[in-house]
Amino acid sequence: MLEVMEVHRSTTRMCSWLLWVVGLVLSALVGVEGLENGLARTPPMGWLAWQRFRCNTDCVNDPHNCISESLFMQMADLLVHDGYRDLGYNVISLDDCWMARSRDAQGRLQPDPYRFPSGIKALSDYMHKRGLKFGIYEDYGNYTCAGYPGILGHLQTDALTFADWGVDYVKA
Ligand SMILES: *[C@@H]1O[C@H](CO)[C@@H](O)[C@H](O)[C@H]1NC(C)=O
Repeated sequence: MLEVMEVHRSTTRMCSWLLWVVGLVLSALVGVEGLENGLARTPPMGWLAWQRFRCNTDCVNDPHNCISESLFMQMADLLVHDGYRDLGYNVISLDDCWMARSRDAQGRLQPDPYRFPSGIKALSDYMHKRGLKFGIYEDYGNYTCAGYPGILGHLQTDALTFADWGVDYVKA
């Protein structure tokens, strides 16, 4: 009985050792193929406004916590100053409620003029100067969750607008 168990145990050991060798040889022969085109080496990492600031647009009564260009500039400074950017957390992203309630005369999206007085291109430049990537939000629908203009019927216009602004990443 003891002998049988011994034999069994050493057979099992032998089997797992063989499997390990076969696996090693196979992976050496086949190689591990991964697409390497420089994109998405990590998931997008950085800071997105929504979880903390939601759709707070009340800059009159709550100027330090409302969705505005100064909030995003402050967060960008913190990502850089506190060392997050250098660890790879390098995307700053707007979420809902950055827009004006209506498109401009050419049908383009525009930011809320009171909360983003310098415009989105200036905000995007601010991020790029600090080695950060700039993300934006738009909804694949007629309206965003908070009722701002959605992308349907304006796909090309909005893609061109985001490209003009130097947007790196779109959350939809
Ligand atoms: C968006 O609006 C158009 C025009 O009113 C309508 O035909 C379409 O069903 C709407 N789409 C959605 C997803 O609500």
